[in-house]
Parts: sequence; structure tokens; C-alpha cells
Amino acid sequence: MAPSQAKKKTPSVKGRKGSARRVDATRARLSERVKELTCLYGIAQIASNPDLPIERKLAGIARILPAAWQYPRRASARILLDGREFQSPGFRHGASRQTAAIRIGDRDRGAVEVHYRDGRGLPRQASFLDEERNLIDNIAGQIAFMIEHEDARAAKAELREQLIRADRLAAIGQLAAGVAHELNEPLNTILGLAQLVRKMPGLPVPSRADLDSIVEASLHARNIIRELLVFARQGRPGRARVNLNRIITDELALFEALCGKSCVQIRRAVDPDLPEITADKSQIRQVVSNLVVNALQAMPGGGELTLRTFRDASRVCLAVEDNGIGMSPKIRENVFMPFFTTKDVDQGTGLGLSVVHGIVSLHGGEIRVESEEGRGSRFVVAFPLRPKTAPEEKPS
Ligand SMILES: Nc1ncnc2c1ncn2[C@@H]1O[C@H](COP(=O)(O)OP(=O)(O)OP(=O)(O)O)[C@@H](O)[C@H]1O
Ligand SMILES: [Mg+2]
Repeated sequence: MAPSQAKKKTPSVKGRKGSARRVDATRARLSERVKELTCLYGIAQIASNPDLPIERKLAGIARILPAAWQYPRRASARILLDGREFQSPGFRHGASRQTAAIRIGDRDRGAVEVHYRDGRGLPRQASFLDEERNLIDNIAGQIAFMIEHEDARAAKAELREQLIRADRLAAIGQLAAGVAHELNEPLNTILGLAQLVRKMPGLPVPSRADLDSIVEASLHARNIIRELLVFARQGRPGRARVNLNRIITDELALFEALCGKSCVQIRRAVDPDLPEITADKSQIRQVVSNLVVNALQAMPGGGELTLRTFRDASRVCLAVEDNGIGMSPKIRENVFMPFFTTKDVDQGTGLGLSVVHGIVSLHGGEIRVESEEGRGSRFVVAFPLRPKTAPEEKPS
């Protein structure tokens, strides 16, 4: 073999080192790609598991993130979403970090972060690879998509729940209205006759006392019937311009002494520019007072009662919040059912919230409740600014 040919076939030491470095670099890049793909595959598996609640999905994703970065042993990750935080095990902040926003619609709801904690085994100021920038953006995008999907699913489930509840309440309303009508007449006869007999001269004292009891019991029963009729939307509401802020001030004045005695602090957070609504003033008072009474009863050892008003698109809203005993999901589902109560006989009949529901529906509004056992409850009532039916103006 000619010496020149032999030279061509045997690379120099420098050349051998160069190509070995290139092989190493390719191998390193491939290994990074494998880690990325494994991570993306893991995320896809977690995201597509319909049985996992969203919190567990985010915790699972945070756990697998560090392994996809160049220095996995020094990396930790966390996902921030709506004020909540999901961390990889042993999460530690570090000077080098990479972040990608979780953007849903036009709002940033959180971020994905990968941190390198300092120490041995990490180049000083370890920088992130271009591929890692793409990866973290991709992961934030996948999480945003997952949250959007979850929000849409929750909204659909809530809507279905509302429809079922509305159907059930409408059926109970019809039944209640029927029973109330049937009872109204005999009750009026009992009441009228008892009142008449009570006026007769020369009645023995015990009989007069018995008649007093009959009248009192009949009046109580008549009140219940009225409330049932309101729940069943059979009453005819008056319509006037009503300022919710003023109603709150008036109603709270009635409860101030009671709140002071039971160590309940009142907070008012009203919108001073709240528009007036067209409504039945005394019924709206009843809504506020029923919600306030419930809130106070939920805070037997004291607490904080907050009344808010605010405008939400074309609706005027009132929120009554307490930090009392709260409700279990089972109780929360049934609160608007007539006669549903968890209180002692002398504490409640279970009609307060069904009346509130009836009044709010009669005004074309909506009511919803959020509550957590041991933390408190929040009732939000929304009235339309302009009712659909032509209001019958009446001074209130
Ligand atoms: N703010 C609240 N905190 C905790 N539980 C509540 C609250 N409001 C209502 N509830 C629950 O809902 C149930 C039904 O309330 P609702 O006002 O209809 O009836 P009630 O308060 O029991 O009796 P009534 O209002 O007729 O005197 C209550 O018994 C209670 O269990
Ligand atoms: Mg009540």
C-alpha cells in the first residue's frame, strides 16, 4: 500500500479526538431527547387518565419533570396554579431557574418552574438548553389545555346539576302549591271561628287560653303556607326601584345588637355605584334577612359576617359570607328543598332558603352556594338589571 493511502486511512490523534467528541455530543443529545420524550409521554398518560382529579394530575406532572432536565439530580420542579402549588419531592429553590407561564384565554393562571439547586455536580450558573426552553413551554401549553378541558367539564357538570335541581324544585313547588291551597281554606275556617268564639262573653278562662293557642298555632301554620306559596312562585310580587345597598344597611341595623352579643363582626363591602333593580322590596328584605339569620346561626361561637354587593355584567349581585360551621356536600345539595333543616325543631323549619329561592326565581335571578365544612359558606344572589317580564310598578 502506498504511504499516502495509509495516511488517509489512519486519522491523526487530533482527528480521532474530534470525532469521539462528536459521537459523545450526539449521544448526549440523543439521551436528552429520550428524557424529553419520556417526560412528554408521562404527561400525556397522566392528562388522559379520566379517574384522576386535577390536583393529582398536577402533582404527578411536577413529580416527573426533573428527570427530563440535563442535571436531574439537582433539578426540582413546581407547578403554580390559581394560588395553589404542586411540587416535585424535596423541592428546593435555586439560583438557576426556568419558568413558563400557564396562560388560559388571555389570563396567566400560573407557571411551570424548574430550579437547579446549587452545589457540587453542577457547573457554576448552569444554563438551560434550547431544547429545555421548548420543552417547558410545551409542558405549560399542555397543562393549560388540560385545565381548560377540566374547566369546561366542571361547567357542564354544574349546568347538568342545576337543571336536575331546578326540575326537582319545580316538581316539589307544584306539590307544595297544591297542598298549600288545599290547607288554606280549612285553616282560614279554623282561624276565623276561633277568633269569633274568643270574642264571646262569659268564656271560662281555660277555654279562652285554649282558643288563644288555637289562634296562635293557626297563624303560624298560615305563615308556613304563605312561605310555601312564595317558594312555589304563586304569590304576586310588587315591583319598585330597589337599592340593594340601602336594604343591607336597614336589615343589618336590625341584627347589630344580636351580632354584638354573639361576637360576630360585620363587614360591609358594597359597591357605592350599584344600579337599582326592579323588585319587590319586602321580598328582597326577606332574602337578606333569611341569609343573614342562617349565617349567624352557623357561627354560634362568633365569627365574621360579610355582605357584599357588586355588578357582574348585566346583573346586580349580593353575597352573604360567613366563616362558620360550613356544610357537607350532602347538606349543600339539599339546602333549597322545603323543610330540609339540620337545626333543632325550635331553631328552624327548613323553609328559609326555599323561600329565598322562590323569591329570587320570581325576580328572574339566580342563587348559588359555595361552602366547605368547618370553613364557612357563601351565598351569592344575582338579580337581572332589567327583568324579562314587564314590571307592575308599585310604591314600596
Ligand atoms: N350559612 C350557613 N351555614 C351552614 N349551613 C347553612 C347555612 N345556611 C343554611 N344552612 C343549612 O341549610 C339548612 C336549610 O336552611 P334554611 O334556611 O332553609 O332552613 P333553616 O335555617 O334550617 O330553618 P328556617 O330558615 O326555616 O328557620 C339549614 O338547616 C342548615 O343546615
Ligand atoms: Mg334559615
